Order: sequence, then structure tokens, then C-alpha cells
Amino acid sequence: MAGRERLAHTGGGSGGDYGFVVAASRLPVDQVEGPDGTSEWRTSPGGLVSALEPVMRKADGVWIGWSGAAGDPAQPFDAADLHLVTVSLSAEEIRKYYEGFCNATLWPLYHDVIAPPGFHRSWWNAYVTVNRRYAEAAAAQAGQGATVWVHDYQLQLVPGMLRELRQDVRIGHFMHIPFPGWGIFAQLPWRRQIIEGLLGADVLGFQRHGDAVNFLQACRRGAKLITKGTLVRVPSPSGPAREVHVGTYPISIDTAAYEQLSRQEPVRARAREIREALGNPRVVLLGIDRLDYTKGIRHRLNAYGELLGEGRLISPDAVLILVASPSRERVEHYRQLRDEIEVTVARINGEHAELGSSPVHYLHQTYPREEMAALYLAADVMLVTSLRDGMNLVAKEYIACRGDETGVLVLSEFTGAADELPSALLVNPHDIEGLKDTIVRATAMPAAEARRRMRAMRRRVREYDVQHWAATFLDDLNRVPEPAQGRLTGPADRAG
Ligand code: F6P
Repeated sequence: MAGRERLAHTGGGSGGDYGFVVAASRLPVDQVEGPDGTSEWRTSPGGLVSALEPVMRKADGVWIGWSGAAGDPAQPFDAADLHLVTVSLSAEEIRKYYEGFCNATLWPLYHDVIAPPGFHRSWWNAYVTVNRRYAEAAAAQAGQGATVWVHDYQLQLVPGMLRELRQDVRIGHFMHIPFPGWGIFAQLPWRRQIIEGLLGADVLGFQRHGDAVNFLQACRRGAKLITKGTLVRVPSPSGPAREVHVGTYPISIDTAAYEQLSRQEPVRARAREIREALGNPRVVLLGIDRLDYTKGIRHRLNAYGELLGEGRLISPDAVLILVASPSRERVEHYRQLRDEIEVTVARINGEHAELGSSPVHYLHQTYPREEMAALYLAADVMLVTSLRDGMNLVAKEYIACRGDETGVLVLSEFTGAADELPSALLVNPHDIEGLKDTIVRATAMPAAEARRRMRAMRRRVREYDVQHWAATFLDDLNRVPEPAQGRLTGPADRAG
């Protein structure tokens, strides 16, 4: 046990037994109510859970997150074979931290201010309080020398806070959304605290090379730190400087699971049923997003509406299925967007529908994975028109489901996925004429060209799946010299 003794923590709990700790905004389970009124927890259908489940099992892992409701019990529990610790939020914290600082300050700011961010000190204070709660929960669960993986923009202060509580753990942070350029990030009144919070980690992961470059620039300009290649040198008041590695790790999906799902006969039958319900049109176009202003849903609708108006697409020969899942419904910009989208859908259908057939089938609903796979199978053309998107996993899910190598992906160049999928039809969604031409090209693409493109995209998504993403990140994190051995006499002794 030499070098592995439990360290004296500088505060917050004496540590737990888990070798691997995930801290994410939400728990990976949903509470589902049965017909008899009793409720049970089911794993939420996310790639992150499927990627981390095996790691959690092997390393005896625990997941720390919020259930999505106010005032949860704070008792740890096991569900769907996972050890879970709930971080509870009060109704006021949901308003100020989740709806406020996370989704009305950071979300619009990090997505290139598509909507104006609000800067409110009381929201910031709530963000600090809630981040501290996550950090304390992580410190309380992590065993000696554990690996702690913190996720996303909701928890950017956690690495720094955790580092203060526990010098013996390895800390990684992965940002699922873009990291903005300095010109935008500089607007944040608490920019320095965010940079310092993130730099509590040993490894910081971003989706795209550009995001990592933006963060390195923020370190230099916002915190006056020295960077060398992918390393940031972080001085320590009580010892030698630390080095933080900043890397690019594009996230992916559980490709094999989607492929398997799309081969199941009930899913294939459902896909046929969907096409029949639409009147077996020549071309089915599909968009699936959370109802979010970053997704370019209005741009997509405007382009489609104009194509119908110009007779370049004709209803019912072409049909658009528009799934916009409810999201962050109490945040003002999301309410406004919903109104705008619904007015636009009604206008297009009002102008171009006939009795019994509509050019847009709008669904403000959330679907299980089986139905999503059936929709992907039913669609000839997938439209991903985000104005800004960390990755966009829907694009990858569509590709994974197209086992027969048919189907065309129209993909915004402002998604992380565009870096990996040059064989998609890449578009600038702000260029409505360009978007219209690309949609028409997609609907008329020769089968051989579509197959060639889809085959290349499938190769990429198969090789670089979410398991590969998690393994790459964790390999880099585990390469960090063992903190317990290195820090017995001081908080930080990695050569700077
Ligand atoms: O990274 C973006 C993200 O936070 C995802 O983790 C999540 O699935 C999605 O946005 C929706 O977020 P929420 O419903 O928690 O606000």
C-alpha cells in the first residue's frame, strides 16, 4: 500500500470506496411510472451510459447526477445495475442554476450568442453553490486514487473544487458543447473563475480541434497562463506548477446497438408503417432535434417551404417529418422558438396541404430508441441544419441505421460531426438558397453516389464509436502520473 495511503483531505468528506466516479448534470436513469402507479428507474437511452457502463462495472463505478425534479432525496441508490448518487436541487436552484446560468447564460454564450445570454449575479451564485455540491458528492464517493470524470458546461467549476478537496484523485472533464472564441467568451463576467475551475482537471476534452484551440486561447488571454502545444501550465501557490492536457475527443454513439436495432423486424415493420401512414411518398425527409434555437429548425422549415412554393418539391411527392422534442420549456427563448416553429409549420401546411396529406408532419414529442430507429429507416434524406452544435449524434445515429447503404445526410458544417463526415452533403444553414439546392440535390441523388457516400460515413461511425471515445479519453487520463504517489508531500508535483 506504499504511496496509496489515504491522504488527509483539505475538507469535504473523507472519501468513499469507488474507483471510478462520473459526475454529470443528470443521472443516467429515468423514473418510469407503471400502470399500477408504482415507479421504477430505467436507464436513459444515451450513448454516454452505454459507453461508461462497462467501465463502471469493471472499476466499481458510481454516477453522480440530478434526477430532473426539485428536492430529490439525497440517499445513494442502485438502479439498472448502476450505483447512483443524487444531487438534489431546490426549485429556486432549478430556476437560477439550471434554467438560468446553465441554459440562459452559458448555453447561448457557448453557441455563438445565437440568442442573447443573460448575465445575472444571482444565477452565478447558484451555479457556484450547485457545482460545490457536485464536487463534495464526488469527493465523498471517490476512493483513494480514484478516477473522476466530470461532464459538460453545467459542471465547469467541479474540477477545481474537487482538486481542493482531494489531491489524490485523477480528474478529467469533457465538454459536450462548443467552446467559444475569445471574442465571445470574454463577455462572461466570471470567465476567469470558469477557466480556473476547468483547470482543476488533469485532462480537458473538447469535441473539435477549434474548441480546444479556443480554450487554450482563453487560458492565455483570460488567465494570463502559459500554454505549450496542448499543455497549460498552472502555477500552484503551495508547490510546483501542474500541467493540464487539453485534447480533442469527438464523441460518438453506440454504433453496434443502433445497427442491431435497425435490423430488428418489428423496427423495420414500423418503418414501413410510417411510410404508409404518410401515403408512400417518393421522398421522406426527416429532422430530429430537441426544440432548441441552436438546431436551425426555422432555417430548415423556411428552405423547405420555399422549395414547395417554387414547385421544386411537390407535396405529397415529398414529405417532411419534423420531430422537435420538448426541451427547457420554462426558458423564455425556448418558448418563443416553439411559437415561431409552430406558426411556420401551420403556414406551410396551410399553403401546401391537401385534404388527407400534409407536407410537414410536426411532432413535439420524445420517442424511445426503437421509434427513432424506425424513423431513420423510413427517411430517404436526413436534415441536420444546426447553427452551432458540439457534435450532433442524430447524424451518426442515422448513418448507423442505414445498413443497406441507402439514404442521404444533409449536414450543417457548424456541427462537430461535419469534421468527421466529409461525405455528407455539407451545408451552411444560413445560406437558404444553398440549403435549398442541397436539399433538392439530396432528393435526386443517384443511388450509386448515395451508396458511395453512405459507405464512407458508415466506416467512420463504426470505427469511431462511443466506446472508442471513452477509451481514448480514459487512456489519456490514466497516463497522468498516479496522483497518490506524487502528492503525498504536496498538492501538486508534476513537472511544469
Ligand atoms: O450537452 C448538451 C446537453 O446538456 C446534453 O447533455 C443533454 O442531453 C442535452 O443537452 C439536454 O439537456 P438538458 O435537458 O439536461 O437541459
